[in-house]
Amino acid sequence: MEDRAIVVTRRLPGVPFDSLARRFRAGAPPPDAPMARGDLLRRVRGASGILCTLADRVDAEVLETAGPSLKAVSNFAVGVNNVDVAEATRRGVRVCNTPEVLTEATADLGFALLLAAARKFSDAERFLREGRWTGWDPWGFLGVPVHGATLGIVGMGKIGAAVAKRSRGFSMRVLYHSRRRLPPEREAEAGASWRGLDDLLAESDFVVLCVPLTAETRGLISRERLSRMKPAAVLVNVARGEVVEEEALASALSAGRLFAAGLDVYEREPVVHPALLSAPSAVLLPHLGSATGEAREAMGRLATENLLAVLEHREPPCPVN
Ligand code: GLV
Repeated sequence: MEDRAIVVTRRLPGVPFDSLARRFRAGAPPPDAPMARGDLLRRVRGASGILCTLADRVDAEVLETAGPSLKAVSNFAVGVNNVDVAEATRRGVRVCNTPEVLTEATADLGFALLLAAARKFSDAERFLREGRWTGWDPWGFLGVPVHGATLGIVGMGKIGAAVAKRSRGFSMRVLYHSRRRLPPEREAEAGASWRGLDDLLAESDFVVLCVPLTAETRGLISRERLSRMKPAAVLVNVARGEVVEEEALASALSAGRLFAAGLDVYEREPVVHPALLSAPSAVLLPHLGSATGEAREAMGRLATENLLAVLEHREPPCPVN
């Protein structure tokens, strides 16, 4: 066994903890819940690599506590907003993530949320389960049409493009907003037209958020921006909760200034704003974007390969810095 230590913060699909533990000092098997902050700080001391999840805050304190032995932070997620990448870079620590392998699963979920919110699945299912259904109702749970509607995608990366692909089957008109406009051939391939964010919000019947959380995108969908959306529009968020002002969204839904929302992510996970819990027409999922067995296994394999590559002085498959 090598003398180097690693920390795996949680039992994860696709991450062969036992075989890693035969090669590196890895401590006790990881827990089945997020690692407590105190345990994380204790276990990273002198470690060479950390394999973590989006529930672990790998900030300057963690990096400092790990010390100069630390070479790799491998995140079991595509988003790396839980990692202080700038500080890691300053310390010569490679940060890696797991893009691509979760693109289709997350786009499936985004489209499912779009459909579910448009047709009031959550309210209607609750009504049925509560035994309140007395028979077919010509006025019950009327939704908004998806077919032929205008879809606005905010963040046209891989997941945004995969959502656009799904919308073709529904003959949707696709608008997108990204910091950088795609080259014309990629726009044509995605069948999407670029808009400034305010125009996209004003024109779209469905807005799907697929941006990474950065200093620029935090609070992007503010109260003011929400007020630009059509009253019959639906907002879907499969990005990060902090991209939306949650309180403003909840009040827009309660006041009928938006038709519905489909949310997979929240500002303070796992806490969900109480006003959202009681908001009409909100479909609320517990951060399931990548939650298929295939995607999660592939994420684990990729996160492991990222970690091993850095520790073996090879270029990792998915570096962030
Ligand atoms: C999930 O939210 C991820 O970033 O992988």
